[in-house]
Amino acid sequence: MIDEHESGYFTEANSAEVVVARNRNAKDERLKEVMEVITRKLHEAVKEIEPTQEEWFGAIMFLTQTGQICNEWRQEYILLSDVLGVSMLVDAINNRKPSGASESTVLGPFHVADAPELPMGSNICLDQKGEPMFVHGRILDTEGNPIAGAKIDVWQANDEGFYDVQQKGIQPDFNLRGVFRTGADGRYWFHGVKPKYYPIPDDGPVGKLLGALGRHPNRPAHLHYIVEAEGFDALTTHIFDPDDPYIDSDAVFGVKRSLLAEFRKVEDAEAAAKVEVAAPFYDVEFDFVLSRKGGN
Ligand code: BEZ
Ligand code: FE
Repeated sequence: MIDEHESGYFTEANSAEVVVARNRNAKDERLKEVMEVITRKLHEAVKEIEPTQEEWFGAIMFLTQTGQICNEWRQEYILLSDVLGVSMLVDAINNRKPSGASESTVLGPFHVADAPELPMGSNICLDQKGEPMFVHGRILDTEGNPIAGAKIDVWQANDEGFYDVQQKGIQPDFNLRGVFRTGADGRYWFHGVKPKYYPIPDDGPVGKLLGALGRHPNRPAHLHYIVEAEGFDALTTHIFDPDDPYIDSDAVFGVKRSLLAEFRKVEDAEAAAKVEVAAPFYDVEFDFVLSRKGGN
């Protein structure tokens, strides 16, 4: 006897309905809802694509290899989600901001939780490699008031496009990372080096997929930030160099117009001396605006 929720035998025409009905007794309502949507959309895609058995097996092997390359440091499924634009979509859905607040973008895999807290104005470049850059700005609320005591966690790739964690033994630990705290004026400033574009890890199945799709694996030069302050929503974002050759084709779709900063080349020795650096250097000014917790 077929139970009502078992909904009869499977046919090509009613495939999704039969599977959805079979899940009707799921113990978790959210799981049931998610599986219903995924089943409907997946069956619709398979019906439209009409894969051969070989193609379907190819897809299964792709997912198998994606899992097999994962380890403590390598998360190929996140990369897959990134290059499909799903990471940015989930980020957008979960970070709808009131007007005037800074926009978020993906965290990426290279954040280190225990980077050192440094005195404001420190140089985060520990190996003196690259073109000097002075980064500064303010942390503000949506009314334009400075936020005191904001924590700014920054990290960046070096002038060759590598993070310290990708070059252990070559770059010093915690190179190009730092945590700073604003004073009463909400200002922050630190020294770094002009970042360069870099490829996301592309020696695995996701890199192969990008190649097959005629896509490059590069991300335009950027600086990562997590800005946190009591009473405000945490902001995970980047600022980007608008002159980067990959600014319009980020492999992970992370670029937003509002996150383009100006990397202004300063040749003047006097201006350089004022910020305790030798000319020429790049001056990057960028303010971040945080939304109040529970605001809209
Ligand atoms: C990053 O910017 O660090 C990054 C983001 C997504 C994938 C790979 C790297
Ligand atoms: Fe990055």
